[in-house]
Amino acid sequence: MSKLYNPSPEVLKKAHIKDYDKLYSESIKDPEKFWEGIAKELSWFKPWKKVLQWRYPFAKWFIGARCNIIHNVLDRHIKSGKGDKLALLWEGQDGKERKFTYKELNDEVSRLANGLKKLGVKKGDRISIYLPRLPEQIISMLACAKIGAIHSVVYCGFSVEALRTRITDAQTKVVITADGYHYRDKLIKTKHIVDEAAEGIKSVKHIIVVKRANNDIDMKQERDIWYDKLVKDMSTDCTTEEMSSEDPLFILYTSGSTGKPKAVVHVHGGYMVGIYATLKLIFNISDDDIWYCTADPGWITGHSYITYAPFILGITQFFYEGPPLYPDPGKWWSLIEKYKITKFYSTPTAIRASMRYGAEWPQKYDLSSLRILGTVGEPINPEAWEWYYEHIGHRRCPIMDTWWQTETGMQMISPLPSMPLKPGSAAKPFFGIVAEIMDKDGRVVETGKGGFLVLKTPWPSMLRTLYKNKKRYKKVYWGEISGVYFTGDAAKKDKDGYFWIEGRTDDVLKVAGYRFGTAELESAFVSHPSVVEAAVIGKPHEVKGQAIKAFVILKQGIEKTEELKNELKAHIKKEVGPIAKPEEIEFVDTLPKTRSGKIMRRILKAKELGKPVGDTSTLED
Ligand code: PRX
Repeated sequence: MSKLYNPSPEVLKKAHIKDYDKLYSESIKDPEKFWEGIAKELSWFKPWKKVLQWRYPFAKWFIGARCNIIHNVLDRHIKSGKGDKLALLWEGQDGKERKFTYKELNDEVSRLANGLKKLGVKKGDRISIYLPRLPEQIISMLACAKIGAIHSVVYCGFSVEALRTRITDAQTKVVITADGYHYRDKLIKTKHIVDEAAEGIKSVKHIIVVKRANNDIDMKQERDIWYDKLVKDMSTDCTTEEMSSEDPLFILYTSGSTGKPKAVVHVHGGYMVGIYATLKLIFNISDDDIWYCTADPGWITGHSYITYAPFILGITQFFYEGPPLYPDPGKWWSLIEKYKITKFYSTPTAIRASMRYGAEWPQKYDLSSLRILGTVGEPINPEAWEWYYEHIGHRRCPIMDTWWQTETGMQMISPLPSMPLKPGSAAKPFFGIVAEIMDKDGRVVETGKGGFLVLKTPWPSMLRTLYKNKKRYKKVYWGEISGVYFTGDAAKKDKDGYFWIEGRTDDVLKVAGYRFGTAELESAFVSHPSVVEAAVIGKPHEVKGQAIKAFVILKQGIEKTEELKNELKAHIKKEVGPIAKPEEIEFVDTLPKTRSGKIMRRILKAKELGKPVGDTSTLED
């Protein structure tokens, strides 16, 4: 039996939604009516003729409508007299502060949007953004959206190779980056990485460079331009492009079960409706909130709940440049005190890491401004949940354990503040969402039993397709179990209808909340001259949730040394990025395979964890 935490009278009193069950069943009976009601809270250039067109497995929402997400992020706040309200508070790792009101943010976005136009960027062009957590990272995304260009943000912890693949696939016209930045005490030479990644790629016409670290860089004549110089003389007037509700807003690469990352496509109309509704209702947003999400806009959490939704809701948000627990484990808690944060959204890995340093760190700070806490990205173990609840939320703040994916665009399964909470459970589906646990053949699994988590109906912020790859979209998401969206996660549902997410069932790992495909890591191993073959598994890790372990077959005659293990770790760091550095490498002579040659990672994992290996009838040897 898991513990149950009932909402306090104080939380209940303030809750936008007091009766989840009633609204949920109404929303399921008529999802189009529910979503239409939400959509009407936003501004559109022209309303829709039809809410949903569902030609399985392709959905279109708000058919015929004209809109632009920026019209809701900025324009409507300026128009309604909110221009002087603080939109963005930023603090650098070096303690430097910058502030933007809605008007100032709008001016910056318009200047850059005009700058991009001057460089020849047009509606539908792809722009890669490879920036650290600076205000310009957000401004760049917003400026692209404003003129109808499609942004492809690449997390700036990714390597040259990863960036190059993404620039090539997207046929990027402009890359926006920085000279460099400090990550902890290390200088990361971002512009150098971009120079290498873009080398010889014909589509790249310009590289815009934000000055941050003042390190020496090469500026290639005609191609490269300083951000400051570009926007300096630009007008703060720029008309927001009228888009169709189904026009793409961004592509975002994420890992799947093949080596090649796939680009998830999200659009203007439905996406803004979905992220607006979820942030508003799950985090019970009110006008005086100060939002702090610790994610990076390089990932979907940052797209939806940093760059877009908080601004659509017209609240003030805080954005921090530095990494977690730096320069000391009390940093985040000090920021909550300093900026009087009311809603804090982070990850289980960060909570577990903080736990390790002890409650004395948060105890140094006044956290009484907090009202609601959130977590995302991986399952949170009840122990970490309890610590978060006790030492950060002081037993006053409900924790929203939000389950969702790059593909879903918005939070899909989560408690609401007015719901009783069960530590470790993401609670119930959001309004309009039908989630179920099924077996491989599409049969609903008994209550309390594990199975595949699937989604049975379309939702407005769902991915529309994979960029240039409809076939893969159909196969990966709708081809596993016929008729439903396959999440790739294992889960169970308890007798109260609460969902318990257990983790990935496919060849995707979640390391510290970051998503990697085993194939992606394995091909990085094989690109090393000493390696013939490799298999990668995720092993439980106390802080990171999962850590990477690789089984590696070396070429004949290569010696199995510790030095080589370290060299391979460095190689993966270089090929994929520092976050993918394997925890453990084991040299082996063979790998378990099916007769058709597929590596059976399941067997490696079972053996590694001392568990029964299960069915081995397909094993070749
Ligand atoms: O396995 C689930 C896990 O993260 C996966 C999606 O990863 P990504 O696309 O990188 O998006 C992460 C941020 C939205 C899911 O398939 N996951 C996400 N949230 C949770 C979770 N697992 C358990 N509990 C969660 N709250």
